[in-house]
Amino acid sequence: MAEIVIQGASPAVYGQSTRPPRGDYARGGQVNTDYTCPQNYAAYTAADHDIYRRLYERQSALLPGLACDEFITALPLLGVKTQIPRFEKINDRLYRATGWEVVAVPGLIPEVPFFTLLANRKFPVTDWIRRPDEFDYVVEPDIFHDLFGHVPLLFNPVFADHMQAYGAGGLKAHALGACEQLSRLYWYTIEFGLIQQKSGLRAYGAGILSSAGELAYAVKSSVPHRIALNLLRAMRTRYKIDSYQKTYFVIDSFQQLFDMTAPDFTPLYAALQRLTELPADVQAPGDVMASAVMA
Ligand code: PHE
Ligand code: FE
Repeated sequence: MAEIVIQGASPAVYGQSTRPPRGDYARGGQVNTDYTCPQNYAAYTAADHDIYRRLYERQSALLPGLACDEFITALPLLGVKTQIPRFEKINDRLYRATGWEVVAVPGLIPEVPFFTLLANRKFPVTDWIRRPDEFDYVVEPDIFHDLFGHVPLLFNPVFADHMQAYGAGGLKAHALGACEQLSRLYWYTIEFGLIQQKSGLRAYGAGILSSAGELAYAVKSSVPHRIALNLLRAMRTRYKIDSYQKTYFVIDSFQQLFDMTAPDFTPLYAALQRLTELPADVQAPGDVMASAVMA
């Protein structure tokens, strides 16, 4: 089997890495050309199920007052909490709710297959789980990050439509050579986005929602900047892959995110070519700071 090369800056890749991708991409020929594969359920050990159970238990206890309402409402739809769920079981509910499905992949996948799956309402979920010594932090997204972090909001119709639009937009960005810019938007919304709700500021980004440490930090700490989402600003801003974020972007609703990202990005990509990148940790002229953190 040919070596799989992860090329370019995939939005699913946590930064550009020179390390080989983690995960078994050979699988005795079971990986399809679109990178999907059967969820290797029989391969999970009792220890794997136990890690999932412990991660789920710790993280779900942290959510009240920090995670957005839509996420908290949908989380139980993942089903079993005490062991790794079977994707078919989740799909029974998810497909009926929004027409989305989760599909297993062996790990990070290149940008074009990733965008193509999203554009077809299929969300790629890495099927392996972190090792016990990685309980608090794992560099690559594993099944806990992908399922717990990303899948609950796919039950929300507006967010679900936004993810599909993002996939289609990714294919367009690829053709225009703008994947790097678009991946920053992904990072600052789908992975690390905050949302202003009636009850206060909350997280909706999967990277925050699946992190025990960053959840309270992102929502409550006085250290990071919190800026009302502005597409050009987010797409100019570099991001941190090895520490908590220095800057978070805040939306008012998923409808606002959907509407804001609906127009053709071609002129935005052209404008971005003439603008300098911004470091992750600065305030820039024109930034609208999101309202102060509420107690
Ligand atoms: N509307 C964007 C475009 O035309 C695509 C997109 C949709 C990007 C949703 C992000 C989120 O390129
Ligand atoms: Fe992710």
